[in-house]
Amino acid sequence: MLIVLCSVKGSPGVTTLAVALAMAWPHVESTRRLVAEVDPSGGDLAMRFGLPATPGLVSLAAAARRTRDPAMVWDHTQTLPGGVRALVAPPGGTHARAALSTLATAPDEPLLPIVARDTSVVVLADCGRVDPASPAEAIARCADALVLVTGTQGDDLAHAAARLGELARWTPRPGLLLTGDGYPTVDVERELGIPAIGRLPHDPVTAATLTGHRQPPARRRGTNGGLARHAAALARTLAVPVSPMAPLPGSVPAGVPGVPAQQVRRPGGVPITPPAFGLRTASAPHRVGDPRHNGHQPSTSGKEPRS
Ligand SMILES: Nc1ncnc2c1ncn2[C@@H]1O[C@H](COP(=O)(O)OP(=O)(O)O)[C@@H](O)[C@H]1O
Ligand SMILES: [Mg+2]
Repeated sequence: MLIVLCSVKGSPGVTTLAVALAMAWPHVESTRRLVAEVDPSGGDLAMRFGLPATPGLVSLAAAARRTRDPAMVWDHTQTLPGGVRALVAPPGGTHARAALSTLATAPDEPLLPIVARDTSVVVLADCGRVDPASPAEAIARCADALVLVTGTQGDDLAHAAARLGELARWTPRPGLLLTGDGYPTVDVERELGIPAIGRLPHDPVTAATLTGHRQPPARRRGTNGGLARHAAALARTLAVPVSPMAPLPGSVPAGVPGVPAQQVRRPGGVPITPPAFGLRTASAPHRVGDPRHNGHQPSTSGKEPRS
């Protein structure tokens, strides 16, 4: 199974979610889990978990020039805590993009989707920010399910609205996952005209462990927690190939009151046409009351600046 995780703006927590899903994936005893950093802006996992840069995406791209045996993908992976395998990308976007382009422009199908066809394998492909003409698009278009992670400020949502229809056509099973301090979920759904599959909780302690960092004890107080639990619920949903991406327990209802039915994406991924996006023209945003809730600040460490 190939699960693509991506964003269209900023740094909403895609890499963290990829690791969280891999660690929470059900049936670990019978499933090989691979987090593949196919982010053209470069990778974070090697730095975060103290792994060497090689083997990884660059060595895989070099090997793929010689052989197209999908089994050799595993030779270019390393081990994360919990037995998860990782295909790490170099931190610099130049090398990551070049390696990805090599893999994506191969004459036949990209290797990762072939690997993911094995029913005992789940590939969680961190495609990072999928700008138009991203070399990760060839992989994303093969996804069994695609999760777009987006912040909930007006500018985040404007970017999401502009790409929703296109991304939904890449996969039979698209899902919109919200995060960050911003508009309430129900308002986002009303404005975008689609239900979200959930909202990631603000959980800096768990996020820190998933990014290989430790938190000093003083910072453990005052966290909402719940990221691991949320990731486990999402992993269970994703692991069932035919189940629709319904909202997760504890999040919002599937229907969007006041939104015409044809604007709501039905389970199964009927392409949507995003309605006009009006949040920015609304008066003051209706923010989530608790300032700790979903308020993590994006980190750009290890990344090339994005224009
Ligand atoms: N749910 C969350 N709660 C709190 N902090 C988070 C959460 N998800 C990610 N973070 C933090 O946000 C930063 C960016 O996360 P990352 O996963 O690298 O984003 P992206 O891959 O989208 O660039 C990291 O410092 C990470 O620890
Ligand atoms: Mg990332």
